[in-house]
Amino acid sequence: MPSSKEFIEMDDKYCAHNYHPIPVVISRAEGVWVYDPEGKKYLDCLSAYSSQNTGHCHPEIIAALTEQASIVTLTSRAFHNDKMGPFLKMLAEVVGPHINDPTNSGIMSIPMNTGTEAVSTGLKMIRAWGYIKKKIPKNEAVIIVCRNNFHGRTITISGFSSDISAVRYYGNFGPYTPGFKIIPYGDAEELENIIIDIGPEKVAAFLFEPIQGEAGVNVPPEGYLKKVREICTKYNVLMVLDEIQTGFCRTGKFFACDHENVKPDMLLLGKALGGGIYPVSACVTTKDIIGPDVIKPGTHGSTFGGNPLACAVAMKSIDIHLRENLAERATEMGAYFIKRLREIGEKRTTIPIKDIRGKGLLIAVEFTEDIRHIVEELKDNGILAKDTHSTTIRFAPPLVITREEIDWALDIIEKVIVKH
Ligand SMILES: Cc1ncc(COP(=O)(O)O)c(C=O)c1O
Repeated sequence: MPSSKEFIEMDDKYCAHNYHPIPVVISRAEGVWVYDPEGKKYLDCLSAYSSQNTGHCHPEIIAALTEQASIVTLTSRAFHNDKMGPFLKMLAEVVGPHINDPTNSGIMSIPMNTGTEAVSTGLKMIRAWGYIKKKIPKNEAVIIVCRNNFHGRTITISGFSSDISAVRYYGNFGPYTPGFKIIPYGDAEELENIIIDIGPEKVAAFLFEPIQGEAGVNVPPEGYLKKVREICTKYNVLMVLDEIQTGFCRTGKFFACDHENVKPDMLLLGKALGGGIYPVSACVTTKDIIGPDVIKPGTHGSTFGGNPLACAVAMKSIDIHLRENLAERATEMGAYFIKRLREIGEKRTTIPIKDIRGKGLLIAVEFTEDIRHIVEELKDNGILAKDTHSTTIRFAPPLVITREEIDWALDIIEKVIVKH
């Protein structure tokens, strides 16, 4: 087998440099552990951006995948298949109770593949609802989003990102889609002001993350979600939560909105829904919003969305999140991880720590300077984590991590970041 160095050279030569990966090659994985071609083992503290909640190659998900793979994998939505209905019924039963459905219209979803596609789907659904149900004048619908958001990388989504350098690429991807307004994150008062400013009759939705993951695990002030809910209801504006990174137990509740017992009108899901094995995403909302009076055949779709293989994997993934009590586990292990990080933070570190924050097992340590070299040193010592926005390291291991494994990781983190 070629060496790690050779694999990295191949990537550099044949892949556009649209990522700046940590120089490690993963050729095998199991649970929280991953291995390079030379056999060195690492503890995965990124989990493919929170996709690996159930741990790498969970045997039951692999079994669901391989069993379904030899029966039927892809039919397209030109025909029905015998897995999509049961999967979407499961979403209605499991995700439905977390969704605001004041008229009891019922839960309906659109299955897609990647997170970006779930968000793009949500945006189209929001606009369709806005024109058909809210009666917004044609082409005047506004969707409010937050500064430092991360919802994916299509042109439209990049267009309403405030991350100029990486995502908007200094305007080199323009022109962008109109109809979006960016406001500060975590400020409910500003949301209400801007709705009034634009004119509530033109605002279709407020789309945001309950915790901003890619921005560096920004946790909003207590009560923010509740206030947003009240404002959205008051002005008939859809509250749309992107729980692609925070969903499925990552923050210690099934969804992050459960921390405040708040129900959004639409949930956008991805990542862990696919069990870390297959891309599965969904836009989950109500019949009032995407029923047949709003969404007609041909208005949206995806050849792979809702394919039997994806549905079999996703049903097993949801089942495992529930059966293995991964929300409780994230709460317990997350509290322990943060406690140990705070103990380390009290010592003299090579680069001063500005903040340690997080919920469940979505944790970040923010430093006062660029920490790329720390992330590479962690890698050399067996911990895989990734810097976000150059000064912050996110720690988001699979939720199946044990206390002993956390101790193993924290001993290394201490060794790397504390001054000796
Ligand atoms: C909150 C959020 N939304 C959307 C996305 C995009 O998901 P994907 O990379 O699967 O397209 C991400 C990815 O990091 C995310 O964190």
